[in-house]
Amino acid sequence: MSEHPHGIARGLTDYGDRDFSIYLRRSFAQSMGYSREMLKRPVVGIAYTPSGFNNCHRHFPELLEAVKRGVLAAGGLPLEFPTVSLGEVFLSPTSLRYRNLMAMDTEEMIRAQPMDSVVLMGGCDKTVPAQLMGAVSADLPAIQLIGGPMMTGRHKGERLGACTDCRRFWAKYRAGDVDAEEIDVIEGRLATTAGTCAVMGTASTMACIAEALGMTLPGTAAIPAVHADRLRAAEATGAAAVRLIGSDLTPKRIVTAQSVENALRVLMALSGSTNAVIHLAAIAGRAGIPLDLDRLNAISDTTPVLVNLKPVGAHYMEDFHSAGGMGAVLRELRPLLHLDTLTVTGETLRERLDADQDGYVDHAIIAARESPLEPDGGLVALFGSLAPRGAILKRAAADARLFETEGRAVVFSSLADLAARIDDPALDVREDDILVLQNAGPHSASGMPEAGYLPIPRKLAAKGVKDMIRISDARMSGTAFGTIVLHVTPDAASGGPLALVQDGDPIRLSVAGRRIDLLVEADELARRRALLPPPPPAPERGYARLYAEQTLDADEGCDFRFLKPPAATGVAGAER
Ligand code: FES
Ligand code: MG
Repeated sequence: MSEHPHGIARGLTDYGDRDFSIYLRRSFAQSMGYSREMLKRPVVGIAYTPSGFNNCHRHFPELLEAVKRGVLAAGGLPLEFPTVSLGEVFLSPTSLRYRNLMAMDTEEMIRAQPMDSVVLMGGCDKTVPAQLMGAVSADLPAIQLIGGPMMTGRHKGERLGACTDCRRFWAKYRAGDVDAEEIDVIEGRLATTAGTCAVMGTASTMACIAEALGMTLPGTAAIPAVHADRLRAAEATGAAAVRLIGSDLTPKRIVTAQSVENALRVLMALSGSTNAVIHLAAIAGRAGIPLDLDRLNAISDTTPVLVNLKPVGAHYMEDFHSAGGMGAVLRELRPLLHLDTLTVTGETLRERLDADQDGYVDHAIIAARESPLEPDGGLVALFGSLAPRGAILKRAAADARLFETEGRAVVFSSLADLAARIDDPALDVREDDILVLQNAGPHSASGMPEAGYLPIPRKLAAKGVKDMIRISDARMSGTAFGTIVLHVTPDAASGGPLALVQDGDPIRLSVAGRRIDLLVEADELARRRALLPPPPPAPERGYARLYAEQTLDADEGCDFRFLKPPAATGVAGAER
């Protein structure tokens, strides 16, 4: 029996008799019907995440076939393994809460099982960040395969794409412009194919970020889920995973301070999802790289918005793909990018872009850098007395008339309070007020839901009010829009200043000054702090307890403290 450091015998615990251990493992592997020849091949693990609770991954069986074909043809043995899968809309209290569970599962199964490289198959919002977090920590050669976006549907001649249009039609229904019968019909037409949400929401943004980081094959982030090119990308990804075997091109060499800056550039040029700031902080954090929100602002101020996709623009992901996709975006951004970063094929980004010089671009969907949609980036970080460690505003999705304002706070102390009172005709609220939601951050029992898109109070919506300043420690769906200040850090549940806001307090927003300030005297705030109720008792057991004990703030990506590399904990987001 030969030494076999790779393949199925990798990582054996031999209890003193190595040959016996190899013999035993091979005999069990043979019970799956593999020949001895096949079992001599190096192994490509495939983190495989279909689930009856994940509509976005429903095409994964077919995609898996294509990955395996690529691995086999390139001389590897493909072995898929299940991990936690997160279908965005089927998880309670939030999908974010389980992202770290999926990241732990991915990391540990990569490490525990005998594989020489790994293909990460992900798509829905939290799955790609979870897989990248786990893969960076496991640090085995890895390549991300994106599941791809849905195609659009049709309703009365109009294109529909989840989930910006979900919200648009719901708002019409709430305003009485669409009746109950029609909203039922629309419900069946919003999400009609396999794949992730059809706009530049969190899933699409993270797919593009994975490509910008260098963790996918070039040009593969935006291919629609049901397109034949998606299957070809899967086959090519399988082959690339075989080429990675034995190399030292691990995710920690690809996810670097420079590639994270490239990802931030891309995020800005896309006007991508605010959630991506949290996920990128978590992924970078696993490599020991803090995500500095001042740097985010500097990048935002020097990156034009190029991509005209909903929810900010007009088009859908299938249009983005045919317009040139990420290749076109990266070529347009080229002078702003760090070009020496490594990608998963072993090429530098410069080499990747050089190889792709005459790619097609449809400038109606991906603008030229010289004539951008906006001169500066879609997201900004705000700081101030209300958010000492930062908050995020998607200015590209906001109403610029509200950017320099002072208003009166109308405060909701929790999600339940919001639900109970927002549509109350007696609610004391005017359109120039600022809606504030407390206790919806990472340390709250609600687990930082996408509740930051507070509805416009019904009595104002009925008068035609479409946008108001809304502030919270929650997140917002990547498919939503409005003048919405999110991720206020520290959050209310951990005693941040947001917890101290009361009805009628003046709050000042200055997007130009990157400020969000609570204009209340310090001694009054100290008086209120002394009266804050004690935090509710921590959950007694299980994952909820782990989460309560370990979760970090939004500026550290809401990762778990014990999952970050030891030296990196606590360095991100300096107090000011
Ligand atoms: Fe999966 Fe939107 S629900 S990407
Ligand atoms: Mg989403």
